[in-house]
Amino acid sequence: DIHPVILCGGSGTRLWPLSRQSYPKQFVPLLGDETLFQASARRVSEADFAPPVIVTGSDFRFVATQQLMSAGIDPGAVLIEPEGRDTGPAVLAATLGIAADDPEAIVLITPSDHRIADPDAFRGLVRAALPTARSGRIVTFGIRPTRAETGYGWLEADTPADGEPVPLRRFVEKPDAARAAEMLAEGHFLWNAGIFLARADVLIAAFEAHAADLVAPVRAAVSAAQPDLGFLRLDPGPWAELRKVSLDYAVMESADNLSVMPFAGAWSDLGGWEAVWSESDRDSDDVASEGPVMAIDCHRSLLRAESPRQSLVAIGLDDMIAVAMPDAVLVAPRGRAQDVKAAVERLKADG
Ligand code: GDD
Ligand code: MG
Repeated sequence: DIHPVILCGGSGTRLWPLSRQSYPKQFVPLLGDETLFQASARRVSEADFAPPVIVTGSDFRFVATQQLMSAGIDPGAVLIEPEGRDTGPAVLAATLGIAADDPEAIVLITPSDHRIADPDAFRGLVRAALPTARSGRIVTFGIRPTRAETGYGWLEADTPADGEPVPLRRFVEKPDAARAAEMLAEGHFLWNAGIFLARADVLIAAFEAHAADLVAPVRAAVSAAQPDLGFLRLDPGPWAELRKVSLDYAVMESADNLSVMPFAGAWSDLGGWEAVWSESDRDSDDVASEGPVMAIDCHRSLLRAESPRQSLVAIGLDDMIAVAMPDAVLVAPRGRAQDVKAAVERLKADG
């Protein structure tokens, strides 16, 4: 069996005002009827996958379990972090739990903020990567880059051949713009999809080698975890000692036993409104709309009315984004969708 670990504790501020601190993007229906979290869980619920381990924050525990229930998916365990410490500690906690039953269990770490158009093809690739993971390598999944993206990890591989993992030369997490442009031009780099397949003991050894300070507190938090209404609450004492660090920075940038499986299928991290527009169904004017929207003479725009009782009427908009929530409205040119993050920070600062 493959043991999925679904990470869903992030807050996704670039999709404000739909995505909120209290209700982040993985839990809202961004495309179609399912949320990204539900789609992520469904993607890994097949006969050869064990029930998923969910790792999330206290605030999201009920949303997460309620969404699993309505998708008809039973979790194996739901781990609650006392506070967000980014993905490094979250992954280690889940992996220690799985290793307690079987140290050589195969773990599939997966985020919950992605869209993968063809889940069958994705599972096929995961299965094809199993022998490499069993042999003691950490397998990443690599996407062919289309722009100098600074929000992703970049993977340098020998000769990315489709269908088989190749050894990774280097992992560069979130490069600056100049470095990203260089890697795009060099041509043999792939984007890190944020999905990892490895033996539990191999992952734990990688933490011990590259982020040793996390191991004792996470172990302590796991072994003193308290069952609570079907959740497993990690012990807050040792958890509070942990630094905030992502799996990518803590382990993957330094590990020397990485392989990459090239992933040719459609993948999007839906990191901002521009990506949501390009992944959405659009009409003949390239307008994507959601909710009670009337678009007159609009082109290449994203128009979303998120409350059924509030209509959005747009006239003559080209290349715009408009997202109306009952308590907040975003209007911006599509090209400036990334600035939403800074706007949200300003909102927070202004109270
Ligand atoms: N449980 C838990 N706790 N989950 C978390 C936490 C946390 O503290 N922080 C983030 N997550 C979840 C998010 O909800 C998301 O599903 C996943 O972990 C990844 O975290 P992000 O914060 O979205 O990471 P990123 O997008 O900046 O970068 C990662 O993904 C990129 C691809 O989308 C990295 O792996 C990059 O290398 C990669 O390219
Ligand atoms: Mg992300």
